[in-house]
Amino acid sequence: MKVIVCKDYDEMSAKAFEVMAEVVKNNPKAILGLATGSTPIGLYKKMIEDHEKNGTSYKDIKTVNLDEYAGLDYSSDQSYVYFMRHNLFDHVDIDLKNTNIENGKAADRQAECKRYNELLEKMQQDIQVLGIGSNGHIAFNEPGTPFGSVTHIVDLAESTIKDNSRMFASIDEVPRQAFTMGLKNIMNAKKILILANGKNKAKAVYGLVKGEVTENVPASVLQLHPDCTLVVDEAAAELIK
Ligand code: F6R
Repeated sequence: MKVIVCKDYDEMSAKAFEVMAEVVKNNPKAILGLATGSTPIGLYKKMIEDHEKNGTSYKDIKTVNLDEYAGLDYSSDQSYVYFMRHNLFDHVDIDLKNTNIENGKAADRQAECKRYNELLEKMQQDIQVLGIGSNGHIAFNEPGTPFGSVTHIVDLAESTIKDNSRMFASIDEVPRQAFTMGLKNIMNAKKILILANGKNKAKAVYGLVKGEVTENVPASVLQLHPDCTLVVDEAAAELIK
């Protein structure tokens, strides 16, 4: 794993953008695997700035997102569809028809997982952006998720519900279930770009880089990926120095 330690969030976002920009410039038809959460917002801002200043085009780019809350409609401002439109898609020239995410409102959740897996089989990510949970989760693959997992429904861990409650009016409003790409779907990406900032991520970053490869720390599977770059700020890198 390549590790790039940055002084702060801004520098982390700028470095992440360099990795992303290379993929998009080399292949204007690239398939980007994207993540939500607070970590990649700075990266998405840089992509928007670059699109506005330098005209980098996303018109032939396709995207697949990691995960979506189960039960939330795309019109909910807590849904990840809304997040992606608000933080990236509405500000670049991407065709929304080329963007993909699990349907949080699907009546048949198992059928939705099957649909998304079939889609991912046809759409290998040229790059997959990831954040990391304080318990070592990637996407919504909580500790204990098999490395061979594909898109599935998860019961969110208490720690994840607590971490994510900052985005909701109250903890009771955080959905208890989500759709998520599995670890196998993530490992299938040609390139992985994982970002982490802040001291509450330090323990998870240790597990990602230096810990035992174990299903108890889902991110540790990335040690087995042939092209994985971690861009991390100093606070989150505290335990790997
Ligand atoms: C988001 C996702 C999650 C987050 C993780 C970190 O699509 O899959 O795994 O990357 O929970 O969240 P933040 O960035 O908000 O700290």
